[in-house]
Amino acid sequence: MIALDGPGSSGKSSVGAAVAAALGLRFFDSGLLYRALSWTAIARGVDPADGAALAALAPSVAVEAGVGGRLERVVVEGRDVSAAIRTPEVDRVVSAVARVPQVRAALLVRQRALVGRGGIVVAGRDIGTVVLPDADVKIWLDASTEVRAARRAEERGIDPGSVAGRTILADLLRRDGADGGRAIAPARPADDAVHVRTDGNTLEQTVAAVLAVVMPRLAAAPGGGAG
Ligand code: CDP
Ligand code: CDP
Repeated sequence: MIALDGPGSSGKSSVGAAVAAALGLRFFDSGLLYRALSWTAIARGVDPADGAALAALAPSVAVEAGVGGRLERVVVEGRDVSAAIRTPEVDRVVSAVARVPQVRAALLVRQRALVGRGGIVVAGRDIGTVVLPDADVKIWLDASTEVRAARRAEERGIDPGSVAGRTILADLLRRDGADGGRAIAPARPADDAVHVRTDGNTLEQTVAAVLAVVMPRLAAAPGGGAG
């Protein structure tokens, strides 16, 4: 089990998927569950502060495996919402939804069920601290807010210097503060996490840096390493 945590747009999903593919492991981005629940709450007009109503939506949300075992297809009651959950509207409410205790409890169970017996890289905010505290390897991926915002803007086809680009930066800062400051499972590195900074790296350089951390630790873990 590999826990890959870090703030928004630090590279968790792209780096995590590449690392998982290189090691023959599955990949799961836990943020998909929080985004899917937020999307469903918006669609149904549920108040992001109503914990009981939000938790009641959790069974409607499913994450399914696509090609290569990557858990990336997000389905809400039969509808594929994989693209719809990556919008500014969801960005705006997801941290409020993710701080609700009933939401975290409901999604904790779902995450552990998806992980099962392991053989997986899991990306998130609290994987090393709460979801998988016994993970074989824990990594905290990070980069400056400016670099992360520029990457997120480019990913969405937006000029980082434009008004929309500056809105992405402001939103990332706000989410970093909300996710790191919440009472339950705040986003933070586990005490035994290895920190990897990605400023100035190409994706390939970061993947290589993470593999260099992971491979010796997996070889030393009970069971002797990846598939
Ligand atoms: O893609 P990005 O890194 O910006 O966000 P994400 O990983 O999709 O996560 C979206 C939001 O879900 C975060 O801002 C957190 O509020 C929440 N989240 C969480 O609380 N715990 C996790 N393990 C993963 C995500
Ligand atoms: O999952 P998370 O929100 O942490 O980040 P991501 O969606 O994997 O990465 C955000 C963007 O940064 C993607 O377009 C990546 O290709 C890019 N990236 C990069 O350019 N260099 C890195 N070292 C890591 C990610």
